[in-house]
Amino acid sequence: MSRKTLRVSKIKNGTVIDHITGGHALDVIKILGITGHVDGVVTVAINVPSKKLDTKDMVKIEGRELKAEEVDKIALLAPHATINIVRNYKVVDKQRVKLPSVIREIVRCANPACISNSKEPVQPTFYVDSEEPLRIRCHYCGYIMEKQDVLKQF
Ligand code: CTP
Ligand code: ZN
Repeated sequence: MSRKTLRVSKIKNGTVIDHITGGHALDVIKILGITGHVDGVVTVAINVPSKKLDTKDMVKIEGRELKAEEVDKIALLAPHATINIVRNYKVVDKQRVKLPSVIREIVRCANPACISNSKEPVQPTFYVDSEEPLRIRCHYCGYIMEKQDVLKQF
């Protein structure tokens, strides 16, 4: 480590969300419902130089693993993110997030006139047309949602 490098410390047990698309660390924090009042240590690193991406963000959470729904939401915003499970300082599992080709439930259609926004019991369903830039298409009305539309809901 050069004298100019200040590295965030390793965690003992928990989750490291690495390779988050630059600028999205705080959105990930929001998805995970992390407020100022949490028990464990949460470390957020923004604009870290990366070999794979121009710059990346990183979130480390002590003492917590993620739910499948949280991982899917992260995949919408940061398709290159890797989820590392750490136990006793070692990475015991590393997975890249993966957007399913059909997304259900985790987002609502941004078209107010869409039947999925009426009182009808229909499950919001979208097809992933493009991961980056994000474009998901509503099964019911064909409305195309982009990252900004999705971000407003988290
Ligand atoms: N990490 C951590 N605490 C640990 C172990 C790892 O905070 N006890 C962090 C590392 O700093 C790194 C990420 O978890 O940001 C993944 O760790 P590792 O797989 O060891 O790093 P790389 O091989 O660089 O990962 P990749 O190949 O995914 O870039
Ligand atoms: Zn719709």
